[in-house]
Amino acid sequence: MSKIQAPKGVHEFFPPESQEFEYVRETLIKSAKDAGYQLMELPAFEDTDLFTRGVGESTDVVSKEMYTFEDRGGRSITLRPEGTAGVMRSVIEHNLDKGQLPLKVWYSGAFFRAERPQAGRYRQFYQVGIEAIGLADPEIDAEVIAVADRSFKNLGLKNYRLEITSLGDAASRALHKVELVKFIATLDFDEATMARAALNPLRLFDDKRDEVRLKMAKAPLLIDFLNQASKDHFERVQSLLTSFGIAFIVNPRMVRGLDYYTGTTFEFVHDGLGAQSGIGGGGRYDGLMAQLGGADHSGIGFGIGVDRVLLACAAENSISTKISEAYSLDLFLIAMSEETKSYVANLLNSLRNHGIRADMAYGDRALKGSMKAADKSGARFSMVIGSDELNSGEAMLKNMSTGESRSIRLAALHNEF
Ligand code: HAM
Repeated sequence: MSKIQAPKGVHEFFPPESQEFEYVRETLIKSAKDAGYQLMELPAFEDTDLFTRGVGESTDVVSKEMYTFEDRGGRSITLRPEGTAGVMRSVIEHNLDKGQLPLKVWYSGAFFRAERPQAGRYRQFYQVGIEAIGLADPEIDAEVIAVADRSFKNLGLKNYRLEITSLGDAASRALHKVELVKFIATLDFDEATMARAALNPLRLFDDKRDEVRLKMAKAPLLIDFLNQASKDHFERVQSLLTSFGIAFIVNPRMVRGLDYYTGTTFEFVHDGLGAQSGIGGGGRYDGLMAQLGGADHSGIGFGIGVDRVLLACAAENSISTKISEAYSLDLFLIAMSEETKSYVANLLNSLRNHGIRADMAYGDRALKGSMKAADKSGARFSMVIGSDELNSGEAMLKNMSTGESRSIRLAALHNEF
């Protein structure tokens, strides 16, 4: 029979590498939780309109990459390509913005984009994200960036940089748009490019084609059109980051791939990942909630790509020792004979009841095979129990890294850990 394979471009994690994935994800989440963000668990699919209205039709994400289908009730459904629009939908639907603000939430899960798969770019990928809703102060911008930065530092990462810019407030953007549209009108682009520019002229800064980049080299930059309020806000964010000890560079040509951004926007870029170097990004989205039918609250957040952060950790070999600390078993038990198996199963169960991380060799393996299993388990100690040990009530506890053994009373084994 032919074997069934996973769909093209999906990223799967299985043992033992799945421990690294879990460790990275949990470290990213911890940084959010420690800063007062609370879990939001959202559907993996939403009404398609949420993304066309929220993320924007000029974006690649909406125009080319959505997994959209009709459900059995004839509704247009889309697998979530990102998390912010879903958070906003839920906040509006459940009036979560009626309590104390800012509302600070985190989420983690699978996201879906029908992109051309390559290293670091998948059709199902994983993000950890946070959103802080209802506060327009620069202090919250700096907090959000610091939460991401701290999580990367906690993972031991060094070879990444933070790029930031400001898209200003609505008034600044309107001024710039007039000039940018005038400038683009002087250029000669194909129809599709002009259509994108008509939807959102900023998109042309994001075009990967050399000829477009060349033509856009002299385009007016939004950062030069910031009014005083927008400038002050951006300067406060920068001075806070500096005082937090977070290095950054201002990249005024940075364009995020989603249309909802306003004000402070940022990206974390890792040097060891090749083309797909963005390990996380985010920014303000001050008009999004109103645009989706809610109150006119501001918001800021980020999405971090767990898959890419994992690749970054591998490139810097930054987590291997932490993985063995976090996941290795304390003890691996081996029953020498058929008669001692039930005893060992009971001992194992009682050790686990004491919170000890333990496992045993199952099946009819010879001692050699069982010792191999003990090695493979990564357990710090092992113990072989046969009829002699059962009768004497004592067995040798072997330290797997030094090879030393000492005799331990089985009844007091749990006190050793
Ligand atoms: P984004 O920049 O589109 O932002 O995605 C965030 C991160 O997800 C990227 O930096 C990257 O690490 C990862 N990522 C995106 N696409 C893929 C892919 N195809 N394969 C692997 N990793 C990928 C957002 O999604 C916004 N919702 C972030 C945000 C939250 N902005 C404000 N709040």
